Amino acid sequence: MGENKFATLKFGDKEIDLPILEGAVGPDVIDVSKLYAQSGVFTYDPGFTSTASCESKITYIDGDEGILMYRGYPIDQLARESDFLEVCYLLLYGELPSKVEKDKFVKGITYHTMVHDQMRGLFNGFRRDAHPMAIMVGVVGALSAYYQDSLDIDDPHQRMVASYRLIAKMPTIAAMAYKYSVGQPFAYPRNDLGYAENFLHMAFSVPCEEYNPSPTIIRAMDRIFTLHADHEQNASTSTVRLASSSGANPFACIAAGIACLWGPAHGGANEAVLNMLNEIGTKENIPEYVARAKDKNDPFRLMGFGHRVYKNYDPRAKVMQETCHEVLAELGIDDDPLLELAIELERVALEDEYFVEKKLYPNIDFYSGITLRAMGFPESMFTVLFAVARTVGWVAQWNEMIEDPKQKIGRPRQLYTGATERTYTPMHKRAHD
Ligand code: SDX
Repeated sequence: MGENKFATLKFGDKEIDLPILEGAVGPDVIDVSKLYAQSGVFTYDPGFTSTASCESKITYIDGDEGILMYRGYPIDQLARESDFLEVCYLLLYGELPSKVEKDKFVKGITYHTMVHDQMRGLFNGFRRDAHPMAIMVGVVGALSAYYQDSLDIDDPHQRMVASYRLIAKMPTIAAMAYKYSVGQPFAYPRNDLGYAENFLHMAFSVPCEEYNPSPTIIRAMDRIFTLHADHEQNASTSTVRLASSSGANPFACIAAGIACLWGPAHGGANEAVLNMLNEIGTKENIPEYVARAKDKNDPFRLMGFGHRVYKNYDPRAKVMQETCHEVLAELGIDDDPLLELAIELERVALEDEYFVEKKLYPNIDFYSGITLRAMGFPESMFTVLFAVARTVGWVAQWNEMIEDPKQKIGRPRQLYTGATERTYTPMHKRAHD
């Protein structure tokens, strides 16, 4: 460990030395945890643009260089050479598994994919046209009503059981939400299928005929899960961490993460990209929409573009674009007008000074929606698939937070600009209108 480094804060007659902590890689941090006690002032950082909320060993992002690593392994290597359940093991345990470890883990997840049969009744409480994300928030939160033997977050064994249950049951619940929305019977998971193929089976198979997706489609589904598995302290992961810091049960905390992911600025962007492309309609309309995206008076933004951290190409977007082309080629869709529109929109935007100057590049959501649509998923299911994949990241970060001795209940303060003290005025003394 290097010699102690400090940042000195001077204001008024005060001079305060704040410790500087170094990471394995990436920016140092200034530890301000004692600042209020030493100075009586808070830091102020709406949206946490300059704030590290925790210490973590799971995922590293370099936004300027467009780097993403899970436990030190670059995302493009994992997406091309690993598989989703092996990535789940890596995120949870920190190392790539041996053959024996991997087989045991895969078996452990596989044998947790069924849900309590009484949960089928929960779905009947929803309208058929309910958004699948609304169903996911409700049904995943309800898991705590069925699996009470894995709620003690202070018991490492129960935490791992809950983690396995969540990773294993999310695809089953997601497929049930889809089946319910299209009025088809639920398909049970099959223990002879891999994770991605099992999900496709539960989503798309029907009792009337065989369902055999191509290896290319299965591989694409598995890779899409890997690309979305974790992403440092994004909004939904921070939501899971904050909810968990109160000691809430894991299922309720993951439901909170699903709720946050649903937003169009976050995981809902993949659905919003498709809606945007459908609204733009033709290449001739692209200049009008790019102009709107640049207009401060217009709330319209190019969905699938920009990122809080990436000020370079999102490394996941490159692999996602390749996967998109593979899927379309496999399905014989070589002239998808929406893909043509997306490619032209990307070209126009990346040549536009506004996007260049603000370093706005396509993010993972820009191509994922086109791919999932080609695979047969309706737009309303895109964020559901994101939630299925991100569950392993949420539970890995959840476990890390509970095991971190420095963590305590998350309770930010504020800059108060409201009314100062004043005396209550009874109704008869107030203005009549
Ligand atoms: C995900 O955080 C994660 O890691 C998230 C995620 C994950 O894996 O968990 O990567 C998944 O959420 C990807 C992002 C998906 N969202 C979208 O594609 C929605 C469109 N993008 C924007 O809403 C926006 O870029 C955000 C929300 C993604 C990032 O917002 P920031 O960091 O708060 O950016 P900002 O609002 O400060 O933007 C900086 C400038 C602003 O202009 P100025 O005020 O400086 O003049 O860039 C502009 C913004 O107006 N800008 C855009 C834009 N994104 C930012 N202008 C037009 N179109 C856009 N898409």
